[in-house]
Amino acid sequence: MKSHSTISVADPSALGPVTPEEAQLLTKLDLARLPRHVAVIMDGNGRWAQRKHLPRPAGHRSGTQTARTTIETCARLNIEALTLYAFSVENWRRPKTETDFLMQLLREYLRQEMPLIQRNNICMRFRLNYGGRAEIVDALNEIIAQRNGDSRNRPVTEEEVARHLYTAGLPDPDLLIRSSGEMRVSNFLLWQIAYAEILVTETLWPDFNRERLLEAFVEFQRRERRYGGIREGGSDSEVPARVAGT
Ligand code: FPP
Repeated sequence: MKSHSTISVADPSALGPVTPEEAQLLTKLDLARLPRHVAVIMDGNGRWAQRKHLPRPAGHRSGTQTARTTIETCARLNIEALTLYAFSVENWRRPKTETDFLMQLLREYLRQEMPLIQRNNICMRFRLNYGGRAEIVDALNEIIAQRNGDSRNRPVTEEEVARHLYTAGLPDPDLLIRSSGEMRVSNFLLWQIAYAEILVTETLWPDFNRERLLEAFVEFQRRERRYGGIREGGSDSEVPARVAGT
């Protein structure tokens, strides 16, 4: 989202007026330890619409408002990268009317949101029709295509794969949020989320407001990140860090 050289500790006043609940959450947050890269599976638009007896497109339209708030909040909190899962390879399995609507909505959204994007100094990268496995295959094919002579037989390294992913140059996500309660990663950033903290919330995407996002950050900061090691001064009988939702 922002280049690393411009990242500094966020000033909470950058959020503008906050609700009492948000103010309370901000007191619990260490703004110097926010995730560097947040990835989001925006799920639950259809169910949100259904609960309100609205057609599914109304849920997607409302979901774009949540995307807007999420982008703006992350930008104001100086979060370096935010990756939103907007449309996957598998989403083509939906009825044509819905995929057409989603494409139209994305076009509209991007046109409308350009001022917000520019105002917040955000750099956007698009990955429509995304699939995590396809991304890894693309990276490997690129590596093979670029190899010649002696380097043909050199083993491929993790760093080399990472350099060829669509997220090249970004830190791996520290936090993966999935709305609407499904316990799946759905082919999203399969390589990059190796050590991400996963937070599944029951909240449907259109209801995932700024307060929910701040709660997710508070929960993230409660997690003990061990990257396969053990807690400093701990023993191997210790219980693993809990995996909880909001
Ligand atoms: C899931 O809801 C959401 C999608 C298929 C992606 C579309 C997301 C948006 C339109 C949000 C806006 C984002 C941007 C960047 C424009 P679902 O239909 O799978 O919900 P359901 O599981 O309740 O049916």
